[in-house]
Amino acid sequence: MGAIKCIGILTSGGDAPGMNAAIRAVTRTAIFNGWRVKGIMRGYKGLITGEIADFTSSSVSNIIQKGGTILKTARCPEFKSEEGRQAAYENMRKEGIDALVVIGGDGTITGARCFADEFDVPIVALPGTIDNDLSGTDSTIGFDTALNTIMDAVDKLRDTATSHERLFFVEVMGNTAGYLALNGALASGAEAAIIPEMETETDQLKNLIDNGFRKSKNSAIVLVAENPATGGAMGLAERVKREFPQYDARVTILGHLQRGGSPTAQDRILASRLGAAAITALKEGQRNVMVGISNLETVYVPFTKALGRTKRVRSENVELVKILSI
Ligand code: F6P
Repeated sequence: MGAIKCIGILTSGGDAPGMNAAIRAVTRTAIFNGWRVKGIMRGYKGLITGEIADFTSSSVSNIIQKGGTILKTARCPEFKSEEGRQAAYENMRKEGIDALVVIGGDGTITGARCFADEFDVPIVALPGTIDNDLSGTDSTIGFDTALNTIMDAVDKLRDTATSHERLFFVEVMGNTAGYLALNGALASGAEAAIIPEMETETDQLKNLIDNGFRKSKNSAIVLVAENPATGGAMGLAERVKREFPQYDARVTILGHLQRGGSPTAQDRILASRLGAAAITALKEGQRNVMVGISNLETVYVPFTKALGRTKRVRSENVELVKILSI
C-alpha cells in the first residue's frame, strides 16, 4: 500500500447511539489532514454492492446529537465468504479507497480481521456497541446512552412496583455479557442483577429469594441479562410462579429501546475522541487495530486481543449491588 489519500468509513452490526458522532469525527479529522472520505452504506454489504458516496464536511453536519447511524447498518452474511470479500476489495480499489475505518462490535471486528488477513488493506476499528463487551477499552460507544435508557425505565417501573408491592424482572440486552444488567442495576438501585457471568457459579434466583429482598420493602426490581444462561426475564418469572408463588412477579423486556435515542455527553465525547484517534492511528502507520480508551489514555488494541479475551465484569460491582440492596 502507498500513502493514504482516501479512506472509507462504515458502520456495521447493531447500531449504537454515538455512531454518528464517530462518523463525524472520523470524516472531519480525515479532511482536516487533507484526505478524502467515502461513506460506505449498510456496512460490509455496501462495500460488496458498491453503495459508496463521497463525503464532505457538510455530509456530517447536524448529526452529533442523533441516534442510529446515517450510514445505515446491516449484518452481512455475504462478507463471511471469500467471494464476498473479493468483491468488497475490488470495489475499494475501484473507488480509490486506501484504508478503512469500521465502527461496530465483535462481528464487525471479526469481519475486519478476516479482510485484513486476506488483502493488503489498513483497517482501524472503533468499538461501537451498547454491549460493552470488547476487551481493551473501558467503554464502547453507545454503552453509556443505553445505560441511561435502562436507568430511566427502571425509575419509572419503580413507581408501579412500589405501589403494587410487586417483583419486577427487567430484561436488558448485552449479547453474551452482563455489563448492561450489572451497571444498570448499580445506576438504578435495583435489588439485584442476574448475569450470565455468574450463572454457572450459583442459582442466582434461589439465592435472591432465600436471602429475602430488601427488608424494608415489599417490592423489588431485578435486572436480567438477555441470555439462555440466565433464563431471561420470562423464564425467571415462570420459575417464581412455580417455585415461589408468594411473589407477584411481572416482566418488562426493554429490547431495542436500548439502542435508540440521542447519545449522552459521555458517548459523544468518547466517539469524537476515538474517531479522531482512528485517523491518527492510520497516519502513524497502525493497521488492524481497534482504538480504545483505557484509564483515560488512547490505546491501539490488535484485533486478536479485542476479540480474543473475555472482558470480565468487575466482581466488586457484583458485590456492591448486593451490599447496596440490604
Ligand atoms: O450487539 C448489540 C445487540 O443489541 C445485543 O445486545 C443484542 O443481543 C443484539 O444486538 C440484537 O440484535 P438484533 O438487532 O439483530 O436483533
